[in-house]
Amino acid sequence: MRLGILTNGGDCPGLNAAIRAVVRRSLEGGHTVTGIRNGWVGAMSGDLFPLERKTVSGILPVSGTILGTSRKSPRDVQGGYESVIRNLQAASVEALIVLGGDGTMGATLEIHKRGFPVIGIPKTIDNDVNGTEDCIGFDTAATEVMQSLDRLHTSVVSEHRVMVVQTMGRNSGWLALKGGMAGGADFILIPEYRFTLDDVIRHLKKRRDEGRNFSIIVAAEGVTLENLKTDKGEFERRPGIGEMLALEIGSRTGLETQVTVLGHLQRGGSPTLFDRVLATGFGVEAVKEAAGGNMGIMLATRGGRVVTVGLETAAQPGPRHVGPELWRQAQIFY
Ligand code: F6P
Repeated sequence: MRLGILTNGGDCPGLNAAIRAVVRRSLEGGHTVTGIRNGWVGAMSGDLFPLERKTVSGILPVSGTILGTSRKSPRDVQGGYESVIRNLQAASVEALIVLGGDGTMGATLEIHKRGFPVIGIPKTIDNDVNGTEDCIGFDTAATEVMQSLDRLHTSVVSEHRVMVVQTMGRNSGWLALKGGMAGGADFILIPEYRFTLDDVIRHLKKRRDEGRNFSIIVAAEGVTLENLKTDKGEFERRPGIGEMLALEIGSRTGLETQVTVLGHLQRGGSPTLFDRVLATGFGVEAVKEAAGGNMGIMLATRGGRVVTVGLETAAQPGPRHVGPELWRQAQIFY
């Protein structure tokens, strides 16, 4: 069988591990793999090249994607889906494996609906794709948040400061919550739950009254505080929630308050063991499903096992949210 593979959307650790797994498992099964450069952009322009064993040699521990990626979608280009299918057929590709987040899964479903066989693999540091408990890249990014909090702790403890740490995550709070829990955050703000500025101030005062003269507050970039005015309710807003929060806390409490925006540091770093194994499992299973003719699906995990779900599930609008149980657990510690 002739397979094609592309990575689309923001890069993340573990993509290369998945590409390697697809290629290695394909070669073992007598299949060939065509790489598509820069996500849907390369698929629409026909930028394709053969992936061989030597192309994927040494990439397992390397972040990013050897295929390149982009944030463009065929949805936004007239005749976009048709040009993707035309270029794949011209290169004799029989099925396409797509690594991406929820938006990319939506476009993948559209290709499937137009009759071209596809399989999705979920990846995003936001960990918010519907239908799966795990997305490639999240564990590494959350570990980066945790390690950053470890480093920041020594400084804020010594200097008796408040540090607001802003994480990525768009409209979901997985990264802030799990990174914050693992890093011992003293307050965590995520988009799934409502807060007011008074909640934060009250908590900081309580800590101070109890003799704890430092605090680390983790704020997901998509958080909106009820009485803190923001320009836009979106993750692109400038200044970000971290900066605004730090300014308000400083002026309302008199506590020395600073901000650290972790930004794209969360997307780098060598993938963790979890992400390498997850990506490898998804890659191997994607080839198995393709060879078995099981198309229009996305690889997923449920209870730690690799399963498949329909692309319709993955492409549902709105992110997969942090549930109340985990949220309550986090709150026990501050
Ligand atoms: O979706 C992944 C993500 O890293 C988000 O957490 C973040 O808001 C966004 O991408 C940043 O996008 P870009 O790298 O295009 O600035």
